[in-house]
Amino acid sequence: MEIKRVYALYFSPAGKTRALTTTLATALAESFGAPMEVRDITLPAAREEGQTFTAGDLVVCGSPTYAGKLPNKLLPYWKERLTGGGALAVALVSFGNRAFDNSLAELCACLGGDGFHVVGAGAFACRHVFSDTLAAQRPDHDDYAALAKLGAAVATRIAKANEPPAAPEVPGDAAAPYYVPKGLDGAPKVFLKAKPKTSADCIGCGVCVASCPMGSIDPADVTSVPGLCIKCHACVRACPMGAKYFDDPAFLSHKAMLERDFQRRAETQWFV
Ligand SMILES: Cc1cc2nc3c(=O)[nH]c(=O)nc-3n(C[C@H](O)[C@H](O)[C@H](O)COP(=O)(O)O)c2cc1C
Ligand code: SF4
Ligand code: SF4
Repeated sequence: MEIKRVYALYFSPAGKTRALTTTLATALAESFGAPMEVRDITLPAAREEGQTFTAGDLVVCGSPTYAGKLPNKLLPYWKERLTGGGALAVALVSFGNRAFDNSLAELCACLGGDGFHVVGAGAFACRHVFSDTLAAQRPDHDDYAALAKLGAAVATRIAKANEPPAAPEVPGDAAAPYYVPKGLDGAPKVFLKAKPKTSADCIGCGVCVASCPMGSIDPADVTSVPGLCIKCHACVRACPMGAKYFDDPAFLSHKAMLERDFQRRAETQWFV
């Protein structure tokens, strides 16, 4: 099959999903001798319009795993705002060394429902955005080697096919419930209402305001978060002064549990 254009389309508040998605799309564009375009849907303005693709397009779609699924606030976008139009797609999820559970199955189901033909998929272990120590160096050399293998397998599959190839089987269940975060005591921890605090080190630069995918930080008072917070940590990671932090006890207990119980290396997996 001929590929005329390759896209990297991703939601990536803290940047790991972006790195994986653009790396794979760049490699696939090179292998087909096709141009590559970035469609970054992280910020609210970029999600105002839907996007339409067509046969001859290959779209690498990336999302982080949140509570074992796709971030729920992004689900309407993945389900309703994309028109696949017979384009081919690769589904990528990142996850923070605990587990991707059902996020990859959910992304594949969304893309199939949008009219894409999913030709490859992968779940890549990354630094957990809640933590400075959990899988801090990932994706690492081995993860990028797996990404290159996925790219080569997808390119071969497409080159050999006359018709869109069948979707790969991926683990998980798109309809499964969300993972319930646990704390150090093993009990469920609810921190849905937690919002980041701001320390006295803040210099008022506004970087956090510009990085929030929910547009939730007040530009006139960056210590105030009147909108919804999805705990993505974009503001925490982007702040040049390290001034944003979470102090919610339930959140901190969950983070400590992850750092205690999920030190082992979670494997990256890919499917064609
Ligand atoms: C609200 C939230 C929930 C998360 N849930 C999970 C999870 O269930 N399993 C896991 O391994 N990582 C989980 N993570 C970690 C992210 O999947 C991981 O850090 C991801 O690479 C972040 O992507 P980004 O850098 O593109 O924003 C979660 C992160 C957030 C913010
Ligand atoms: S990014 Fe950090 S220093 Fe800049 S306004 Fe936000 S909290 Fe303050
Ligand atoms: S305020 Fe919440 S949603 Fe906005 S960037 Fe910070 S952690 Fe993410």
